[in-house]
Amino acid sequence: MSARSHSMTTTWRVFDRLRRGIGPRLLVRVLLFSVVSTLVLTLSQLYLDYRRDTGAINGRMSEIADSYGHSLGEGLWNLDRRQLELQIEGILRFPAVRFVEVRETTDRGDPMVVSGGARRDRPSVRRQFPLFRPARGEQHQLGVLTLEASFDDVYRALREKAVVILTGQGATIFVVSLFVLYLTHRLVTRHLTALAGFLRHYDVLRPPPPLSLQRRPPTENDELDDVVAAFETMRRTLEQAYANLRASEEVLRDYAETASDWFWATGSAHEFTYVSEQVRAFGFHESELLGRRRLDGADDVAAEPQKWREHMAILERHEPFRDFVFQRRRPDGTLQIVSASGKPVFDGEGRFTGYRGVARDITELRRAEEMLRDREQRIRDAQLELARVTRVTTLGELCASIAHEINQPLAAIVADANASLNWLAPPDPDVDRVRDSLDAIIKDGHRAGEVIQRIRQLTTKGETQKGTEDVNGVIRDVIPLLRSELQRHRVAAQVDLAELLPPVLADRVQLQQVIINLVMNAVEAMGSIDDRPRQLVIRSRGAADEVIVTVRDAGVGIEPSAVDQLFSPFFTTKPGGMGMGLSISRSIIEAHGGRFWATPNADHGASFHFTLPALR
Ligand SMILES: Nc1ncnc2c1ncn2[C@@H]1O[C@H](COP(=O)(O)OP(=O)(O)OP(=O)(O)O)[C@@H](O)[C@H]1O
Ligand SMILES: [Mg+2]
Repeated sequence: MSARSHSMTTTWRVFDRLRRGIGPRLLVRVLLFSVVSTLVLTLSQLYLDYRRDTGAINGRMSEIADSYGHSLGEGLWNLDRRQLELQIEGILRFPAVRFVEVRETTDRGDPMVVSGGARRDRPSVRRQFPLFRPARGEQHQLGVLTLEASFDDVYRALREKAVVILTGQGATIFVVSLFVLYLTHRLVTRHLTALAGFLRHYDVLRPPPPLSLQRRPPTENDELDDVVAAFETMRRTLEQAYANLRASEEVLRDYAETASDWFWATGSAHEFTYVSEQVRAFGFHESELLGRRRLDGADDVAAEPQKWREHMAILERHEPFRDFVFQRRRPDGTLQIVSASGKPVFDGEGRFTGYRGVARDITELRRAEEMLRDREQRIRDAQLELARVTRVTTLGELCASIAHEINQPLAAIVADANASLNWLAPPDPDVDRVRDSLDAIIKDGHRAGEVIQRIRQLTTKGETQKGTEDVNGVIRDVIPLLRSELQRHRVAAQVDLAELLPPVLADRVQLQQVIINLVMNAVEAMGSIDDRPRQLVIRSRGAADEVIVTVRDAGVGIEPSAVDQLFSPFFTTKPGGMGMGLSISRSIIEAHGGRFWATPNADHGASFHFTLPALR
């Protein structure tokens, strides 16, 4: 840039500053106002002067006519030219009078005319006065006095006055305006400029010391102090808000940095635009993911097309998603299971710009879950097996009684068969009695067969099979297996079944096992009782939404110290006991959604209860 054009731009900039500043605008307005008002005042002043001075001239002419009229009339009467000339000379000495003429009024062709001074074509003022002479008591007009005056002097005086006023006022206005400009600068503009500079360089990250104006403080706060105070308030609020923001940002960053999840962002085409470096802990580098879509790196698209179709549809609809689980291969070839959640992001105009979200490696979690499931399955299997083994064991204990239960019908069958043979021996056999015996044989055969059938049921291995069951039927089913055992121990059993029970969803064999366990425990608890009846009650009741079964005995009762452990596995007070009966029974009932508990009886013995949810 040449020096010339540089200086021109500088000049322009200064001029521009001046043009835009408050001071110059103020100056221009003060000047304009003062000039206009001064002009108006001066003009009216001059006009008044003009009126006064011209009025004075007019008045003077009348005075002249009055005071000279008589002597001029005399001079004209005497036709004394000399005297008239003297008089005219005298009149001409009055200021502003330029021309005087005395003209005789006569019918003669050459009236006497005496004049003095210089006549003008267009005098400022011309006045004519008649000249009289008194004769015989009448006034006779002898002639006319013509006076001409000029306002030149008035005009000159006014001009001089105008010049004096305007120069004086103009100088004053100029000085005052400059003073106003200076005052404005001192009191306002320089502070505004300082304020603007302060604000321009204000940085909330490095807050400067509080703003203060470079001036002698006024006795009372003025508008500038208000501005400074308002700014200081605003700045404190701003700094506080910024500090809060920083603090919460720090908290969030701490969370983010310590989280094992990683953060991601995708663009409008669902390609990764950002992946936080936590992803490195899971075998990836961010750069391997950037620019690619989630789908591109997935390993289960072919295996689960439906899942991916749905996911892509959600992305296309710009909807949030949570815990979308998918698989992908790490660079080292191992499989990674990822759970991702995200929400769509829209810009200020509501346009979709992509997604933001978090993702988590759940490979280990999945593996642990699988192991847990596996272990749970094994435990379930073991429990089933244990239940079966204890059933078989119980049956073993019941062996003698069951054998008796089977022997009885068998013995009856043999007896009936022998009797039938006898009745068939005579030539005229008693066929009716033989038929009755055969009926009894069939019934006994069925009875024995049923017992064996039930034993087979109880000993079969296998998964639990839940079906709609009638609890009363289950109780009735196990009685034949227990009848001999009860008789052997001289126990009086009472079966008290509710008439209408809602059905339950249950595994029949397992329910039988629970009832057998409870009855066996009851029998054993009453083994040592000889001073009172060995009474056993098996009761069923229906409640609003469940079935309650109670097995009540009159045995030794439960030791208070044993109450807590009763249902623990391997807790037993019996020499040959395993301590598994109640524990298994309780897990069976709980697996059916029921409850299982014991209560002491008011008189003797204990009651064991369980519930099963009713099937509606
Ligand atoms: N009806 C009852 N009256 C008093 N005590 C009982 C009764 N039923 C169970 N118990 C107590 O609870 C304990 C645990 O019973 P559980 O049926 O679990 O095992 P167990 O009968 O000892 O052995 P098993 O495994 O052969 O049944 C018993 O040893 C006994 O002390
Ligand atoms: Mg037992």
